[in-house]
Formats: sequence, structure tokens, C-alpha cells
Amino acid sequence: MQQNTNIQPPHPEWLADDEIDTVPGTKHRLIENELFESVLDRAMSRRRFLQGASTGALAAATFVMVPNALMPQTASAQSYGSDRNNRLTFETVEPGNLADIDLPPNYAYNVVVRWGDPILPGAPAFDVDKQTATSQAGQFGFNADLVLWAPLPRLVQRIIDVRGSLGGFGQRLIGLYYPYLKDRSSRSALMIVNHEYTSGADMFRNYIPGDQEQVGVEIEAHGFSIIQVDRMDNGEWRLARRSRFNRRVTGSTPVVITGPLAGHPFLQTAEDPSGTVVRGTLNNCAGGKTPWGTYLTCEENFDQYFGYFDQTRANEPDVAALNERIAPPAGASRRKWEEVDRRFDLSSDATEYNRFGYVVEIDPYDPTAKPKKRTALGRFKHEGVGLRVTADNRIAVYSGDDARFEYVYKFVSKGTVSRINRKANSDLFDDGTLYVARFDTGAVAGDEMGTGEWLELSTNNPALADWTEAEILINTRGAADVAGATPMDRPEDIEVNPVSGSVFVALTNNSRRDGVVGSGATRIVNGREVSSEPNESNPRNNTSGDGSKLNGNQHGHIVEIKEDGNDAGALTFKWNILVKCGDPAVAEHDTRFGNIIDPVAVGVSPIADPDNLVHDSDGNLWISTDGQFFSGSVGFGQNDGVFVVPTAGPGRGLLRQFLSGVPGGEICGPEFSGDERAFFCAIQHPNDGQAFDKIWPIGDRDGVSKPSLIAVREVSGKRIGS
Ligand code: FEO
Ligand code: CA
Ligand code: CA
Ligand code: CA
Repeated sequence: MQQNTNIQPPHPEWLADDEIDTVPGTKHRLIENELFESVLDRAMSRRRFLQGASTGALAAATFVMVPNALMPQTASAQSYGSDRNNRLTFETVEPGNLADIDLPPNYAYNVVVRWGDPILPGAPAFDVDKQTATSQAGQFGFNADLVLWAPLPRLVQRIIDVRGSLGGFGQRLIGLYYPYLKDRSSRSALMIVNHEYTSGADMFRNYIPGDQEQVGVEIEAHGFSIIQVDRMDNGEWRLARRSRFNRRVTGSTPVVITGPLAGHPFLQTAEDPSGTVVRGTLNNCAGGKTPWGTYLTCEENFDQYFGYFDQTRANEPDVAALNERIAPPAGASRRKWEEVDRRFDLSSDATEYNRFGYVVEIDPYDPTAKPKKRTALGRFKHEGVGLRVTADNRIAVYSGDDARFEYVYKFVSKGTVSRINRKANSDLFDDGTLYVARFDTGAVAGDEMGTGEWLELSTNNPALADWTEAEILINTRGAADVAGATPMDRPEDIEVNPVSGSVFVALTNNSRRDGVVGSGATRIVNGREVSSEPNESNPRNNTSGDGSKLNGNQHGHIVEIKEDGNDAGALTFKWNILVKCGDPAVAEHDTRFGNIIDPVAVGVSPIADPDNLVHDSDGNLWISTDGQFFSGSVGFGQNDGVFVVPTAGPGRGLLRQFLSGVPGGEICGPEFSGDERAFFCAIQHPNDGQAFDKIWPIGDRDGVSKPSLIAVREVSGKRIGS
């Protein structure tokens, strides 16, 4: 989530250490008084230098300096790519600042759906000057994030067309066929796209925080959309506007609270004394798919919508105490929704705050299914989830908490997964055990690998013996502190590798990881004091090379977790660092790309701020970035992109750029169609802060840039990566 990137000289001290939770924009990592243009100039001259070098003597010199014995089996990107076990033969895309999407030469894209496109019956066409809450509620929402694809068999389509709901027969049908069809070609599909947050200044010509009509539009522009998409003969994917599967769940849709916190007094409000139904889901960032074909969508930075937490402290000290580790700012919120809708005013009904910060499950195949907040998975800033069935057939859910110095979690269900009866899996997420990760040094210090343990977050853990279950599930961060979890550099997306079973975690950056080793330096972040020194799993405290002032981990890294026994139910694991992001040509970035000894010589692309992840069926990890334009003080200044890196074999670490995005826009989603002949991603906040001045999608005539879902294809129909 990048946010609020009006282009102006920022100041390092502009935000307190923990304010990233409300404005996680990466511009705050620029050095003082450094203008946007100067970052761009520097990035462009670096690139010209490298481009010149790539065909000249420098490249040759760099190349021959690598000792042959230490080189991987092959020396060029092309020969790695032609590894017969790997499909990655595409031509690397150069980092850039183009106004439109850039792809390898044999690729094309089409826009599937844009902010404001009508997706429900009767919804009006988008009109930037006439948007209302009602019109927005029937249209595709703002700031597309999570993107998931699921096959839509014709028979299921017919059931919904005739009956309107899935019913027992439909449930059995999906249960039987989903596992088989999910990795195959399908002419029609259902997709979920999250709408993470709104940027009023990029939605309204005259944005007024707290304006009643505009707040109404913003609330309806949140949540997520479920849409049917159809594949055209030329390989494009198009929105099926009249599909009965199309659906909006917004910031006002009733969502059922399930699991241990359902009905608990901490979740009861004046509006909902039962504590079981909350209006809306907010800040839905990433998510994941269950093996039985339901979607999980994650509430992340929900704190920014609430105002007057200071008065909660005075009025309801219990609620305040439970939320000191995930507190919204005191006083009015920046959006001022609380002036229009009292549920966002914590001086009025503080327990409303306890009803956000969860993982939400929805069944895309049943348009009548209610979305459910699964409280057993804990409450924090859930970025996304990765799922895997354990050796004893339970379901494990990995999830990261995206804030500086926060943690990586795992939930393991009590019940087992039914491979036949899909309906029987519907309560698996309501009963189980939550764990949090501690990353240890292992046998050797400093080798960027080690061992780890999943620490139980329940009253069975002696450290939490005087907590209640409700306290642990509401104040999950606080419980994880007590259990002894390892603070990480902003855990973003998390994915299970389909070939190896390894779990990959994107750690996007942490500018406050700037303590001198051995100094005992600490910072106050998210309501607690934490060491700001590097640790082995978050090893960088300086990526600028500026010895006068450490600037933290600006570019992020990717950690691989290998569960012991390759069992998602294990309580111990091994870990290593797959990638330390940055520009491999800039020594100060201290990068690492798997096993690659000379990344520049073999064509590794610069990358920063890894955010969302997906795997292809060969086990390659696809990564989209958020904020690399603003990543650090040396080297970057390019649009966000999509990258792919082999996770095994001789090319492990040979990361190359596949797609370059548009100015101001982070890239979310990434996802494949079942046959991997289409690649989907969301372009979030294109031309951020300048959405009325520069227009993307190119050619759109509605006068404003629109966050959109795109579909990418290889023009002759080959698998993505070819
Ligand atoms: Fe919404 Fe952590 O990105
Ligand atoms: Ca994200
Ligand atoms: Ca080690
Ligand atoms: Ca993902």
C-alpha cells in the first residue's frame, strides 16, 4: 500500500516512527529536501551508464572477472532461461518511467475492468462529476489490490442462472471439480479484486475530507468485487457485465463475525448488541485461495478510518489497552469519516474498532454467500495469506502483519479438510491454533540462514497463561510480543511454493531498521519499544552507503521458510534469504540474488520493495513491487514492476523484470489463469497525486486516471514467461 504521494520535498522526521501504519507512503524514505526530479535524473543517468556498459568493455571486464569455478552452470540470462525445466525465456524488460505498461516484445495486455465500470444491474456509467454512494456501490471500486482467478464451469453457471444460489448439488459439484479445474484452461472465470483504500484527491475534483456525499462514495469504493471474466478468441479477457456472479462487498455490506470472538462483549456495539454482524470490510489488501475454492481477503491498515482514539483511552480503558499496539492516531482522522458516520468515532462506540483487522472468507461461486470475518486467525494488519494442507490433512494459513517490526503468523485448523464435501470445510477457520514465528541464528551466525520456531499464541503457552483467548485474538501483536516473536521488516505477501512446499515472505522495507550493531539502539514503534538493530533474518541497517547516517533497509528482502519434515503443521523450521533487493550494480545496496555470484554479469534486474507474490506451476516466484520509485537515496526512480525469480536449480536467484508499470502506480495481485496463458495484475493508484493531470489507462476519456485490472498474454498464446 503506497499512499499520499503528492510530489513535494519530504522530511525524514515528518512522521513519527510508527505512523507508517496510517501513511505507509515510501516517499518518507527520501533524503531530506530531495526533489522527485533529482531522484529521476539520477536513476536515468545510472541507467544510461549501465546500458552503455552492457555492450562495452565494462560488461566484458565484469564478466571475465568471475571465476569460472564459482559461476553457475551457465552464464547468460538466456541460457539460464533455456534450462529445460524452466519456461523463463522472455526478454528482460528494462526499468523505466514510461506512461504506459511495458512488456517483453512478444506480449500484449488489455484492461479488463477499471474503477467505476458498472458491474451490477442498473449501475450507471462512470461520471467523475456525478459519483454517488449508490452509483459506486454498483461499480468496480477504487485502488484494485488482490487479484485471484477461479475456473467457472458451464454447469455451475447454469445453476446460478436458474436458481440464483449454489445449493447442495452445486456445492458438491464445485467440491469435486475445483481441485481438478483450477490448474486448467477455462473459457470463463470468477475473479476477486480487492479495493484497498481511497485517495479522495484522485477521485474528486474538489476533495473535502468529511464531506457527506464524498464519504459515501469512498465507503462504497472500498471492500472487494467479484466479477466474471471471459476469454476472447485472441486471448484477451473481458468483463462479463451481466453475469449473476458479479458482486460488490463494500465498506457498508453486512459481514458476519465468526470464530471465538463472535458475540464477545469486546465486539458488541450499540448498533449490533449481538456482536456478530459488522457493517463492511475495510482496507482489503492481499489474500489467498483455499483448496476448496473459497477466497480469503485480508483487512490491513484499518486504523486510518477511525478518529478520537484519545477519547477511547479516557472513556473505555479496556478497549484502549487492547489496542495500544495497533492504535489509530489521536484526534480526528485524516479522512474525517467520523464526522459523517459515527461508527468511525471512537469517542462514541469504541468497540467498533475491535471489529476490523481480520481475514474475511467469501465463496465466489455462491452469490448469496455471506462474507465472514474469521477471528480465530487473529487481529492485526493482515497483508495476505498463503495456504497449505498439513501432513495430517488440516489447513495451515500463513499471514504477515505489514508494519515495521511486526511479525509472521501461522494458523493451523483443528479440523481436517474434506476433499469431497466442500460444505464440511466451511467452519475450519473458526477453530484452531495460532502461532507466531521466531527466526533464530542457527548453527552459524551471519550466513543469512537459520532455524526457527512457531510459538503458540494461546493460554497453553506459559507466557500467556494470564491472558484470555479474546485478549490474544484482539491484541494479537501484544500476545506475540510476550511470546517472543522476531520483529521483521514489514511482512507483506506470503505464498507457498507449489513445487517445494517452501513458504516465501516478502519483507518490503524498513527505514527504521537503522540501529548500529551492538549499540542497544531502540525505537518506539507501534506502541512498544523494539530493537532497531539488524538481526540475521533482517540483516541490513544501511542500504545507502552513506556512512554518516544509516538509512535502514530501504529495498526489502525475501525470506524462504522450509517447514521441518516439509509439513505445514510443523512447529519448527529452517529459513534462508532468497533475495536481498536493491540494484546489483550499486555495491552499497549489499544485494543478494540466491546463488548468483555476479548478478550484473548475468542480467539480474534491479528491484526494490517486494510486495505481492504468486508462483507459477514450475515453482518460479513472481513478485510485484510497491514504491521502488522512492526506494532509497541511490539508484532507483523507476516505475514499479513485476519480476520473476527461479527458486531452485542453477538459476535460483536469477531475477528478471517482466513488466514495468506506470508512474505513481504500485502493482498488485499478480495472478495466473489456470492454464498460465494469462497473467493478471492490478495497477493501483496510477499517476498517484496527479490523477486528473495525467491519464491512465491511456485513451480513457473520463478525465481521471483509474486503478484497473489488466490481463497480459503472450501474443501467440504460449505460457506466460516464454
Ligand atoms: Fe496494502 Fe501492505 O500493502
Ligand atoms: Ca500490498
Ligand atoms: Ca545463521
Ligand atoms: Ca499473493
